[in-house]
Amino acid sequence: MSTSSSPDALPAATPAQWWRNAAIYQVYPRSFADGNGDGTGDLAGVRARLPYLRDLGVDAVWFTPWYYSPLVDGGYDVADYRSIDPAFGTLAEAEDLIAEASRLGVRTIVDIVPNHVSDQHEWFRKALAAGPGSPERERFWFRPGKGEDGSQMPTAWVSSFQGSTWTRTTDDDGTPGEWYLHLFTPQQPDLNWNHPDVRREHEDILRFWFDRGVSGIRIDSAALLVKDPALPEVDDSPVRPGEHRPHPFTDRDELHDVYRSWRAVADSYPEPRLLVGEIWLPDARRFADYLRPDEMHTAFNFELMACPWDATALRASIDSTLAAHALVGAPATWVLSNHDVTRPVTRYGRADTAFAFDTKRFGTPTDLELGTRRARAAALLTAALPGSLYVYQGDELGLPEVEDLPDDARQDPMFFRSGGVDPGRDGCRVPLPWHADPARAFGFQDVPATAPPWLPQPVWWGRYAADAQEDDPGSMLSLYREALAVRRHEPGLRGESFAWVSLGAESGPAPAGLVEPSEPVTSSDLLAFARDDVLCVVNLGTRAVPLPPGELLVASADVSAGRLPPDVAAWLRR
Ligand code: NOJ
Repeated sequence: MSTSSSPDALPAATPAQWWRNAAIYQVYPRSFADGNGDGTGDLAGVRARLPYLRDLGVDAVWFTPWYYSPLVDGGYDVADYRSIDPAFGTLAEAEDLIAEASRLGVRTIVDIVPNHVSDQHEWFRKALAAGPGSPERERFWFRPGKGEDGSQMPTAWVSSFQGSTWTRTTDDDGTPGEWYLHLFTPQQPDLNWNHPDVRREHEDILRFWFDRGVSGIRIDSAALLVKDPALPEVDDSPVRPGEHRPHPFTDRDELHDVYRSWRAVADSYPEPRLLVGEIWLPDARRFADYLRPDEMHTAFNFELMACPWDATALRASIDSTLAAHALVGAPATWVLSNHDVTRPVTRYGRADTAFAFDTKRFGTPTDLELGTRRARAAALLTAALPGSLYVYQGDELGLPEVEDLPDDARQDPMFFRSGGVDPGRDGCRVPLPWHADPARAFGFQDVPATAPPWLPQPVWWGRYAADAQEDDPGSMLSLYREALAVRRHEPGLRGESFAWVSLGAESGPAPAGLVEPSEPVTSSDLLAFARDDVLCVVNLGTRAVPLPPGELLVASADVSAGRLPPDVAAWLRR
């Protein structure tokens, strides 16, 4: 066995730097557990299941927005940051939840949505009422329309949710008025980050939650906040290699100042708080700039999630991720899914296994058995890589995407704004099955229901229930529990060393009949890397290969015959 060059190993995490190798579980509160039976998941439901999260072995829980909100975009339309939406509970319940989680050794991360607010937010309501030219409107992007009668939008920018990014207001006398900018839905007006109130308010919001004991924040749409005040059109012409062309609303240099000031707030606490950014950027260097020592600690790495299930592509993605992070001394993050993307067991069961919003379509043929096998291997692959790991609720149960939700049940604005062409994100947000028994919505509801779950669960949901998997050593839940326990206790996996391993010679010849001589398994079909004395090996080929020597720590399928079947991963101590 030989090791190949890898980026320099980073120092191992100290307890104060827990985030460098943490396993972080994402709770989408609306769909996690419904404590009062009203059909919407809530904080009481989460609290009752904190022991489940502790036993799963996660270090922290990230809650998607739980604030007061009309829920037009699942809570990413915040009307008041300092109160909890009544559908989810109360501020006192949130405080108790944070405290109890902490007693169980689980940290809390909350979601901050700085690019926009809800159109029901006090600031926006005041801005509409105050009218054109008012100071209240300066906190947003109000502009007259183009053309003689102002009937044309100020720019032709396209929304991330498809369609336009401007909505026209109506003045008090009923005549058409100014337009306002919203990169997402019209109910999510964009804030003007050149305005001092916007900056001050957000620093205050950070302190509000940090003071309540949260260990960090996830920053929504973190690369979009700052806009070019001249509001130019997007220039889509090809850029020269190495050229950086400023974009009117993405990844603008002025953003770094915002995050430096947030980092100062986070660092002002005796146990510094974590900043993790949601950043989708194709340029790895520009991405890494956000992770310089005085900016965010980490950011979601979506490259691997968008990468096809192919050894060469995955290896390249891992290399480029580690190299980009090494430039700034930041740990990578590993993300297989979240509340915005197709569930991994579905994605990996398709011919095109990469995730891209524009290729996610109804009716794509899917082999769930294959997808599940690969998702199990992907879970071990990502959990073995150096850095922090994110697990989206329900992935530990191996839930597939629910693809046949009736149209009249769908809630996601992506579905509506695409005219029903894009299935949207409801299929990965269906309320969780806790019990195999269908009563009380498969255990999603803790008490007799006054309303059904906010999204309907499929009749076969119980097959994936947590209690059905609990005592099954072959279940996805058992795999996650085992992997997270090993990951937490093996020093090799806690540190940050990483080296690719070439398995050729040392793994010896294949047992007879295992590998056809005419079709040798090439090293390009395998991903193998060492984390000190722990070896992770994943077979992405179509033939079984001999299992390398070593003590087996965990495997994503049966490897007792001494071979690693296709789409299977194993961890071994060498
Ligand atoms: C990213 C969030 O993950 C997504 O759910 C939301 O719709 C957009 N940002 C807008 O806030």
